[in-house]
Amino acid sequence: MSSLLEGQVALVTGAGRGIGRACAEGLADAGAKVIAVARSQTDLAELRAHESGRIDTWRADVTSDDFIAQIASIDGLSILVNNAGGNRPQPFVDVDAESLDFVIDLNVRAAFRVAQAATRTMLAQGIEGTVVNMSSQMGHVGSPNRTVYCMTKHAIEGLTKAMAVELAPNGIRVNTVAPTFVETPLTKPMLDSPEFREFVFGMIPMKKLATLDDVVAAVLYLVSPGAGMVTGHSLKVDGGWTAH
Ligand SMILES: NC(=O)c1ccc[n+]([C@@H]2O[C@H](COP(=O)([O-])OP(=O)(O)OC[C@H]3O[C@@H](n4cnc5c(N)ncnc54)[C@H](OP(=O)(O)O)[C@@H]3O)[C@@H](O)[C@H]2O)c1
Repeated sequence: MSSLLEGQVALVTGAGRGIGRACAEGLADAGAKVIAVARSQTDLAELRAHESGRIDTWRADVTSDDFIAQIASIDGLSILVNNAGGNRPQPFVDVDAESLDFVIDLNVRAAFRVAQAATRTMLAQGIEGTVVNMSSQMGHVGSPNRTVYCMTKHAIEGLTKAMAVELAPNGIRVNTVAPTFVETPLTKPMLDSPEFREFVFGMIPMKKLATLDDVVAAVLYLVSPGAGMVTGHSLKVDGGWTAH
């Protein structure tokens, strides 16, 4: 396994905690050199200490112009895991303008600009790379208190398909991973509510949450040579949530 991605250089955003962190570690374990991006210094220090010795860290805000410009400096960039994202669940009628802007800015605008900068970097170096945009099952369905989040993740699905079509002639593949609920710092406060937990388990035919390993396995597949003909796809890791 440690040679699957040998020679590859991966950029992972939102890598300090949760899904992004697991992806950064999984890619490094598979042999890639990883640049992990987040804002919290403590999380980044832990990543630098990863046993593979293949994780470098950048302390950066993905919504900043400085970070977007910095991406062009990555020599050999061949994998982007465009993962940074967030959610502020609110009833539709109560969504305030600040929350609307915050979620769109992070989940859509920053994701678009990171994907654009990473793709430009690959094209400039003639690299036939691959992009995984972190979507969600909410990129395929609707759910209460999630109008803004669902809107942004549907946008990510649209971005992915359009990128896939446009970049295919350059050999760049673009896909999403669309997980159901995984317990992370983002979702723990939600899943701590017994009513919400009951709702979630009621929606998942497999009657369990996805694990970080489930999501990493999907990412590793999509960036691996075995997925060489897969582009514009959304790999749902949802235990069947969207199947009914
Ligand atoms: N957890 C789930 O159930 C679930 C399900 C489906 C999809 N997803 C998607 O998976 C992705 C990750 O979710 P998660 O649950 O792992 O989230 P999380 O636990 O909140 O972790 C998010 C990570 O992103 C970083 N981050 C946030 N804003 C950033 C910014 N502006 N610039 C740089 N880094 C930033 C955070 O670190 P700093 O705050 O230190 O920067 C943190 O390391 C998101 O796109 C989410 O929508 C999650």
